[in-house]
Amino acid sequence: MDHDTTPALRRSTLGIHAGEGPREPGTPVVPPLVQSATFFWGDPADGELRYSRYLNNPNHLALAKKLAALEGTEAALALASGMAAMSMALLAHVEAGSHIVASRYLYGATQGLLSGELPRRGVTTTFVDPFQPGAWEAAIRPETRVLLMETPTNPSLRILDPRPLAALARSRGLVLVSDCTFASPTNFRGAAHGIDIVVQSATKYLGGHSDLIAGTVAGSKAHVDRIIQVARLYGPALDPHAAFLLDRGIRTLDVRMERHNRSALELARWFQGQAGVSRVIHPGLPDHPDHALASEILEGFGGMLSVVLEGGGEAADRFLSRLRVAMAAPSLGGVETLVSQPRHTSHAGLSVAEREAQGIPDGFVRISVGLEDVEDLKSDFASALG
Ligand SMILES: Cc1ncc(COP(=O)(O)O)c(C=O)c1O
Repeated sequence: MDHDTTPALRRSTLGIHAGEGPREPGTPVVPPLVQSATFFWGDPADGELRYSRYLNNPNHLALAKKLAALEGTEAALALASGMAAMSMALLAHVEAGSHIVASRYLYGATQGLLSGELPRRGVTTTFVDPFQPGAWEAAIRPETRVLLMETPTNPSLRILDPRPLAALARSRGLVLVSDCTFASPTNFRGAAHGIDIVVQSATKYLGGHSDLIAGTVAGSKAHVDRIIQVARLYGPALDPHAAFLLDRGIRTLDVRMERHNRSALELARWFQGQAGVSRVIHPGLPDHPDHALASEILEGFGGMLSVVLEGGGEAADRFLSRLRVAMAAPSLGGVETLVSQPRHTSHAGLSVAEREAQGIPDGFVRISVGLEDVEDLKSDFASALG
């Protein structure tokens, strides 16, 4: 089933059927894993040369169609990790001497890529406060090529409005790239709001079971073709087995997101009534600074939730060590509830002051709410709070 010919299908149906081949007698219901590095090819009359590093293994191609259908874009591509997706999306659109304007609220490794690695290739970045009116425009230079944002932000769960940035990017001939991992394509269709290249760490909600590492990019055919060109040279191809698992995960994305969204909001309200908790951060709460925007542009508030504990870092360490159902571990988006402290994980490279400037004081705990019974999670969190 080619999504181009079935645009009327809805997202949960596309998550299951988009990318399917023709139905003939004996067609397997599950797209088979094609664990082959290379494919028979005699001469140019045999068409495009297939090789799994070229990202044209049958599992890659079916997955690309499904991802494009879910993101509502012309094209998409799955790569070996979220960071592979981000670095290929950027490297495809910059050259030595180029400049990037990026939100200050970014996943730690993306920040590291921009501030530690790309400068070695002659690509510099200006980080801006994305909520300061005019900051993006003021940072643009003649050599700027890319505007880069992340929404919702990790781990402060701020929601950025891509629409004014998309207008700015269009008027200056720039590419707007956004990491939308925390939302997944179920909760936020970035392309419909003007993002040129949507990046996801598919390790998280798309895969959904914490058993694979993958990343995706989605956008126009021209943008994705350029990323394919670069990725074939750098080589971060997704292994066919991980592509197979990712497709399996995506089949249940919509139904998982419904439960993630519901449980996280319920737990956010519950944490608000608990002693020892000084702040609860979730875009579905009316006191969240971006609640109105989130209600307008998201289709679900998400499965991520952050709390700040009154006792600071020590209280957070104690809280994590007492958990019996939820598990202390980095990462997110799986069926199991994972809890982490950004000061020890994604934001360990920043100083206390830098973290505080991003709204991450010591005592900040990030919770990826899984699919367990929400009452069991409440009991677990209650005893961990002590
Ligand atoms: C928001 C966000 N973007 C990107 C990444 C990187 O993804 P991966 O680990 O699949 O490379 C992560 C990983 O935690 C993330 O949280």
